[in-house]
Amino acid sequence: MATSATISTDETQPASGLTVTPLTGSIGAQIEGVDLSCDLSPGIARQIREAFAKYFVLVFRNAKPATAEAQLRLAALFGEPQPLAVFQFLGAHQPAIKFAPQSRVVESNDPAAPKPAAAIKREDLRGIAISGEFDGWHSDSTFTPFLPRAAVLRAEVIPPVGGDTSFSSLCAAYDALSPTMQAWLADIKAVHIVPEGFKEGINLPLYGPDAEERFDAEYPPREWPLIITHPETGRKALFINPGYVVHLVGLKRAESHALIRLLCRHVASTSFVYRHHWQAGDLVVWDELTALHRAPDDFAPHDRKVVRITAGRTVPTAPGSGG
Ligand SMILES: [Fe+2]
Repeated sequence: MATSATISTDETQPASGLTVTPLTGSIGAQIEGVDLSCDLSPGIARQIREAFAKYFVLVFRNAKPATAEAQLRLAALFGEPQPLAVFQFLGAHQPAIKFAPQSRVVESNDPAAPKPAAAIKREDLRGIAISGEFDGWHSDSTFTPFLPRAAVLRAEVIPPVGGDTSFSSLCAAYDALSPTMQAWLADIKAVHIVPEGFKEGINLPLYGPDAEERFDAEYPPREWPLIITHPETGRKALFINPGYVVHLVGLKRAESHALIRLLCRHVASTSFVYRHHWQAGDLVVWDELTALHRAPDDFAPHDRKVVRITAGRTVPTAPGSGG
């Protein structure tokens, strides 16, 4: 049974000012006792980062205040607030995602990022993404050369029914695999692609007449390790998601599909999931690297409006690679 607890002592802020209450046995914690209306002390900031590393999802219920400014302040704890790589490439600069039409190209290549999977033709992979089988579980745009470290969500319009956001721990999913499977997956790389419908979803033509051509040239299929390490704790995570992973390098196509489906079913298990039911005043932070998320489309005919801010840059790193 989860119990409330302070997570550390600090000389700058009293430890009693912040409480962390786990929400499941594997992912999610509720944070209370933080004033988000002003800059956070180094001690409080450290405690929030520690809780983030441990629980992957932090819920600030009835945040005081749950404003855009507070959301940005929270995001900045995890790195520079910035749009997803795809929007940076297309020229967007606002960290809060409102898909404003822009056309100026900015450089998005990260020198730390591995090379794209050049040997794999895009045509060979098109049409085999399996996200529809898994109700939209994903990490955000993992086909890009770098990923955000964290995201903060603020609800502007909460539907009277439905509209929950769910999160799954990829560290807990890895831990639950058998040692034999963990060892077998250790050196496998997964291919991540831009799935069908993605470009339509971000309304690519708004970014200029050549936006699709530039987008296709920038985002060929990309390989990432299947097993990665959590950047702060070193825990291993099963870095797979049904939104973008279409192939496991070195396996035959049928073998690859069967294993991807097995692993995607595994990470979607309720054993590793926290489901957040939105209330007015909530701010929710989640780990973009070692957690998946999804937002079921189950609130029609009601309205739902959320604003996401992503922050920081990271790359998935295999254990022992020094990253
Ligand atoms: Fe997402």
